[in-house]
Amino acid sequence: MQIISGKELSAKLKAEMAKDVATYMDKYRRLPKLSVILVGEDPGSVSYVTGKTKACDEVGILNETIRLEATASEAELLSKIDELNADSTVDGILVQLPLPKHIDENKVIFSIKREKDVDGFHPLNVAGLWNNTDCIVPCTPKGVIKLLKSENIELKGKNVVVIGRSNIVGLPVSKLLLNENATVTITHSKTQNLPQVCAQADILVVAIGRAKFVTPDFIKNGAVVIDVGVNRDEATGKLCGDVDFDACAEKTSYITKVPGGVGPMTISCLIENTIECFLNNVKHKLM
Ligand code: GUN
Repeated sequence: MQIISGKELSAKLKAEMAKDVATYMDKYRRLPKLSVILVGEDPGSVSYVTGKTKACDEVGILNETIRLEATASEAELLSKIDELNADSTVDGILVQLPLPKHIDENKVIFSIKREKDVDGFHPLNVAGLWNNTDCIVPCTPKGVIKLLKSENIELKGKNVVVIGRSNIVGLPVSKLLLNENATVTITHSKTQNLPQVCAQADILVVAIGRAKFVTPDFIKNGAVVIDVGVNRDEATGKLCGDVDFDACAEKTSYITKVPGGVGPMTISCLIENTIECFLNNVKHKLM
């Protein structure tokens, strides 16, 4: 069994990006900038946003966090997004999800200019992913593929089972795996005989959002297991994944840990997406 370290891979990717970004001031006369909007005080969201902006600092990307009260109106948030859409120094806009219930998440996602949509959640980016045309690819799915490729894990023709069908992870990661010629089965909480279906998988990608949901009976001997979950273990109060790591690890050939697995990859892919938006933006301006 080998642990695939997202922490190590993301550190390497960030160091490479930092080298590139260090040349941008000379080349383009400005630096990439990411604006993050955080609505409310949810401790999980605050900690994610802190991680994202810290990574920007490491790579040399300008960043700001705009904090709105949990009671802020939808109109107030949309007007802030309009302002950032119009600001030519801002390359990427990220609104941390989930939003308070009184705000329509789709309306907010649609309002972000497609060219600044570093999350890849805008319908034109989603369509691009499913049509195989130019688009920003969502960060977590992109990170999952990079982790698998970093270990040269063969995807072509393999049985991959994805647990979870969210717009943020399950659906886009399934499409990226199809692009790699994997045979993909998308499962979810209502799937019948879920452990047996998962036990057919050469590669199991778990994004269901339930602490330690995956037990050894879900895992074929020698399978690769990628754990996208971030949960709080009720008993210990510690972070844990969707996979019961201690029980499952020895059955796998490769497995990721929580923390230190997919999470850091989401962040380095966000930085990569911000740079991609910046480069598109400056090239567009030069033409
Ligand atoms: N909340 C959980 N994951 C994400 C993500 O990838 N992007 C945003 N904006 N919010 C999230």
